[in-house]
Amino acid sequence: MRRPNVLLTGTPGVGKTALGKELASRSGLIYVNVGDLAKEGELYEGFDEEYECPILDEDRVIDELEDKMSEGGVIVDYHGCDFFPERWFHVVFVLRTENSVLYDRLESRGYKGKKLQDNIQCEIFQTLYEEAMSSYREEIVHQLPSNTPEDLERNLDQIMQWIEQWMKDNN
Ligand SMILES: Nc1ncnc2c1ncn2[C@@H]1O[C@H](COP(=O)(O)OP(=O)(O)OP(=O)(O)O)[C@@H](O)[C@H]1O
Ligand SMILES: [Mg+2]
Repeated sequence: MRRPNVLLTGTPGVGKTALGKELASRSGLIYVNVGDLAKEGELYEGFDEEYECPILDEDRVIDELEDKMSEGGVIVDYHGCDFFPERWFHVVFVLRTENSVLYDRLESRGYKGKKLQDNIQCEIFQTLYEEAMSSYREEIVHQLPSNTPEDLERNLDQIMQWIEQWMKDNN
């Protein structure tokens, strides 16, 4: 049985992980958090002094995931999307959160100063949406509002429907 690969992307704090984990448990697809995968495997190639965070070794992340992605049925969660092979994904969802809501979420996570400002700007400039639109066929890229628990529930329903339809069409 063929199963689709789904990419969940968007600015830090928009709700990729909340959505991705619940989606995996409802759909039976495998959930992969690229940040966690990198941490576990130490898939880094240096340290960014300005942002005080390790730099992702994108090639090793791709090597690590290739077999799983070829099999299908994977939900990938990451705040970046331009380095994955385009062929991996059947659909891309970019979660979007209003600035004031995102600000509160990131602040309550302990983000402040430049890190907080940069992430809010990333959302204002719709950086991840543009990255997704330039990395994948526009027809497979969808934006989803992610401000409230009702949005989360609606997004789950919508993606579940999309997955079921894909499986009907491809099996
Ligand atoms: N639709 C929503 N409505 C209300 N709260 C939400 C919603 N989605 C996520 N949240 C909350 O916002 C916070 C951030 O969500 P989450 O950790 O899933 O974001 P993320 O996109 O995975 O961030 P990162 O890229 O940093 O991992 C969490 O406390 C989560 O419970
Ligand atoms: Mg997350």
